[in-house]
Formats: sequence, C-alpha cells, structure tokens
Amino acid sequence: MSTEDNFSDQESQPEQPDRRGFIRGASCFIGAAVGAVPMTAGIRVLIDPIVRKNSESEKAEFIRLAELTELQDGEPMKFAIVENKSDKWSRYTDVPVGAVYLLKRDEKVIAYNTVCPHLGCFVDYRKSENDFFCPCHDSQFNLDGKLTKGVSPRPMDELVVEIRNGVEVWVKFERFKSNTKEKIVI
Ligand code: FES
Repeated sequence: MSTEDNFSDQESQPEQPDRRGFIRGASCFIGAAVGAVPMTAGIRVLIDPIVRKNSESEKAEFIRLAELTELQDGEPMKFAIVENKSDKWSRYTDVPVGAVYLLKRDEKVIAYNTVCPHLGCFVDYRKSENDFFCPCHDSQFNLDGKLTKGVSPRPMDELVVEIRNGVEVWVKFERFKSNTKEKIVI
C-alpha cells in the first residue's frame, strides 16, 4: 500500500464523535476547575464578615448591669446591652445589641428582655399605667411580666439574675424565639 493510499484512508475516516465530545468536555471541566479556585476564594473573603460567627458574643454570658443602690424599689429601669464586635477588617466597641429592664422589689431583682415575645418590637415601661406596653400590636404586661391584654403568646421573657458581692446585679443576657408559647433560647 502506498503512502498516498494511507493518507487518503485517514482522511476518509471521520473523527469519532464520542472522542471529540470527550476532549471538549475534559477541556471545559479543567478550565472551570482552574477558574473556580480564585472565584471561591473571592466570595469567601467578601462574605466573611457577614457569615462569620462571633462565638464569644453568641454565648450567653452574665453581664454586670448595675448596683442595687442604683435601682428604685418597684420601678423598672432600662439598661442597654452592648458588645464589642469585630470582623476581619474592623473592630467596633459598645455596639447596642439589646436592652434589659431591671425591677427591684424588696432586695430581689427581676430582669426582663425588653423585646416583645410576640414579633420582636421593643416594649415600653409606662409609668402612668405602671405596666409594660408593646406599641406594635398593643400587648400589655404587668410588672410581673404577665400578659394582661393583647396577642403575645407568652409573658415577658425573664432573665436569670445573680447578685454578686452583695451589691452587684449580674444578668444572663439571652434572646428568645418570637411568637412561640415556649421560651426557646436562640
Ligand atoms: S410585637 Fe409586641 S404585640 Fe406584636
């Protein structure tokens, strides 16, 4: 068989479609894999401050809020809860993350999260009515935290209090799921 015959044989055989498809598919896969590395890294860095969990701030901790002598008997007082937060780029100090009512009664102190258990609005203390009132859907609570009127599915969320060294009021600050009958820590 001559060289010419060989050549014309090769020319006359069309390239197998399977082989061509495989080569094209493999090139695409390799290209995508190489491109995906920097892309994923970029997204990770960009979203990091948003998704990053600050484990310290998420743990329920006792916070020193006041001294007994600062509290007036029978009258709730509001205290802001602040935290230091940070992400990869910045540090923020004293970021408000909530608030607590402290109510002293005969040396005993009760603490409530100021967030309404219904849908999370802030509850006001009404001195004239001597109660707590949520302006969003008009729920009312007495100073024991019990619902007296309105749609809240449970009483005000009471927090654990410790009196340390005889005078310091420490509160375990926790948040709870909205609109459930049970108090579920989140
Ligand atoms: S959020 Fe308070 S009553 Fe609805």
